[in-house]
Amino acid sequence: LFSAIKYKSGCLELIDQRLLPLEKKWVTCSDLESVAIAIEDMVVRGAPAIACVAAYGLAMDAFLSNTTNWEDYRSDFIKNCERLKKTRPTAVNLFNLISDAKNFLDSFEDKIPMSKVKTDLEKWADGFFDNDLETCRAIGEVGLSIAGEKKISILTHCNAGSLATAGYGTALGVIRSLHAVGQLNYVFVDETRPYMQGTRLTAFELIEEGIPFSLQVDSAAASTLASGHVDWVVVGADRIASNGDTANKIGTYALAILAKYHGVAFYVAAPVSTFDFNARTGEDIPIEQRPAEELTSFGGHPIAAPGTEVINPSFDVTPAELITGIITEEGVIRAPYPDHIATLME
Ligand code: MRU
Repeated sequence: LFSAIKYKSGCLELIDQRLLPLEKKWVTCSDLESVAIAIEDMVVRGAPAIACVAAYGLAMDAFLSNTTNWEDYRSDFIKNCERLKKTRPTAVNLFNLISDAKNFLDSFEDKIPMSKVKTDLEKWADGFFDNDLETCRAIGEVGLSIAGEKKISILTHCNAGSLATAGYGTALGVIRSLHAVGQLNYVFVDETRPYMQGTRLTAFELIEEGIPFSLQVDSAAASTLASGHVDWVVVGADRIASNGDTANKIGTYALAILAKYHGVAFYVAAPVSTFDFNARTGEDIPIEQRPAEELTSFGGHPIAAPGTEVINPSFDVTPAELITGIITEEGVIRAPYPDHIATLME
């Protein structure tokens, strides 16, 4: 199984996802700022993976610090949290991770030596990473549990795979689990304009695993769904509001409408750490706007007339009413979402 993140004793290495699948190049982050830039520049992307890297970034900075005790280091730690929060706004896993980190460190006494802070933070970051991996496997199992006798064909969007998590993936975790027991028929992969996570990353992961699939342009989804060859649409999520409205990669909302029209089940696969219990509805979810060049150029070459105005939201919000179920590690959450999500929060 391919993992995009390696950490050991102050050294954080990330596979550069901007170069995949043509080049497998590892980038070393040597300070907190380089971790923040790696998230901003999409060296690493995907909601759970961003949180894992942030956890290791915090651990790494503490590991490399020359301060002697927690009291001296605390302000650096807070600064690091604030810097990481400014990297990408939509995936809530990052913000949930940072509030976890703050809670964890609130338990430290001022005079605790840095040697203890270092080991505790590393253990905490390793624990977070391992937990994400286990969570993804559990999501896969839950997905498998709702499949009937018949082999399932799935349409997916973006990359919610190993690369987007500690490993295994969420939407791709469901696909992996079905495949492992011979319950998967076929996968349709949206290329995912404009950043091409489907073409570059999901297709790469499926090839590595020997899972049968076809890549398609995003706009082929309607006719693929009309063909009757798809049983489930399964996508990941970046932030799920308390009423079930779900932010995910741009194009997910369109896919949900198409699935509804064609009577195809539409599942979101996501860990509980992707819920934002403070967001009442999708309107409370901040949507990242990405650079115009992602649309006006291709492979570094300009393709649009100079002066072309661009809108480039990286995510959209799928209303809960279009979602058949949210596959979490705790089970499948279905309508009425506000009630079931409130129970989950408890
Ligand atoms: O802009 P990205 O590539 O970070 O967007 C990723 C997605 O939208 C994924 O579907 C989501 O983060 C879930 S990953 C398990």
